[in-house]
Amino acid sequence: MAAFKTLDDLGEVTGKVALVRVDLNLPMAEGRASDLTRVEMVRDTILELADKGAKVLLLAHFGRPKGARNSTMSTSMVQGDVERVLDREIMFIPEVSGPVVEQSIGILCNGDIGLLDNVRFWPGEEANEAEFAAKIAAHGDFYVNDAFSAAHRAHASTEGLARILPAYAGRAMERELTALDAALGNPETPVAAVVGGAKVSTKLAVLENLVGRVQHLIIGGGMANTFLAARGVDVGKSLCEHDLTDTANAIMDAADHSGCTVHLPYDVAVATEFAANPESFRICNVHEVGADEMILDVGPQATEALADVLKTCRTLVWNGPMGAFEMEPFDTATVSLAKTAAALTLEGSLISVCGGGDTVAALAHAGVTDDVTYVSSAGGAFLEWMEGKTLPGVAALEG
Ligand code: 3PG
Repeated sequence: MAAFKTLDDLGEVTGKVALVRVDLNLPMAEGRASDLTRVEMVRDTILELADKGAKVLLLAHFGRPKGARNSTMSTSMVQGDVERVLDREIMFIPEVSGPVVEQSIGILCNGDIGLLDNVRFWPGEEANEAEFAAKIAAHGDFYVNDAFSAAHRAHASTEGLARILPAYAGRAMERELTALDAALGNPETPVAAVVGGAKVSTKLAVLENLVGRVQHLIIGGGMANTFLAARGVDVGKSLCEHDLTDTANAIMDAADHSGCTVHLPYDVAVATEFAANPESFRICNVHEVGADEMILDVGPQATEALADVLKTCRTLVWNGPMGAFEMEPFDTATVSLAKTAAALTLEGSLISVCGGGDTVAALAHAGVTDDVTYVSSAGGAFLEWMEGKTLPGVAALEG
């Protein structure tokens, strides 16, 4: 991991204006944020800077307003949520640059916090226009990026500002980069990667990158069916991308060449309908799936064998569930493997780094969120990192 500056490298900040990029792109339900994890993650950074006497200006996007103002996507929608998590009042500022921002900074006392409006209301943000970034930068003394989950975007607020102002990683960014480095950058071996989810097509680049970097690749979820089909298994009515079987074979060949063992299920949970607790549920060998059946989870024998694989590993990186975990009993393999990973982590034999929306939900469902080493709340950024891509927001911090 290349070096980046953290808040520990900041000198005296009293009276200085900190422009802090956070990710307030919160999931919403009935006009309220349904999950505050992203705010909780940046709490330490915001309060540390405020308590040291900086004037903290929060800079964030919310939704995809495509370069125009849209009242339903104002960051004022989440002001209350941020205030609740921080347990402080914050000032909403309906601009990101110009006289209104300047006057607001004049009103803020040292240690106060302001929330700028959705930076994506201006087209210069996504276009990463130097002029737009310079207008925002004019208000700040330094820039802090605490939004790993937006770091795959080369936007003015995630990348451009770091090129203009002295730039620092916030505490959440620092934790995230350290965890990710321990998982794939500079890991203790052997490393296992669990990749699940519905479709191979969405994770091709992830799989291609991982086969050259991990010793065990565990494939689950719907995408395992495509790999099974590539090996000549009749997967019945299962979700399967038959047009990608050649690609699946190429990935398995690449794995063979680089000494990576690919683990596919050899027993599976099947049913004829996609529903919870269906009467047609049964466990069978992968070679016995009926023409009218769908594979909906990894079977118990394969799950046990995967637990044995994890016991031999020092590092685990996990993205995607093993089955249709939102419906019982097809959550069994995901829950079991999550509990194994958590137990091995707690006893100190495994470093476990997990990320992606479904994975976060699956870990919560298994009740082990707090027992794995690190859970990333990033979606696209986590996947791009697993693909081995350089994230522009991170690269800019590294200088
Ligand atoms: C996310 O929610 O994953 C991040 O905030 C990035 O959002 P975007 O996909 O709209 O850039």
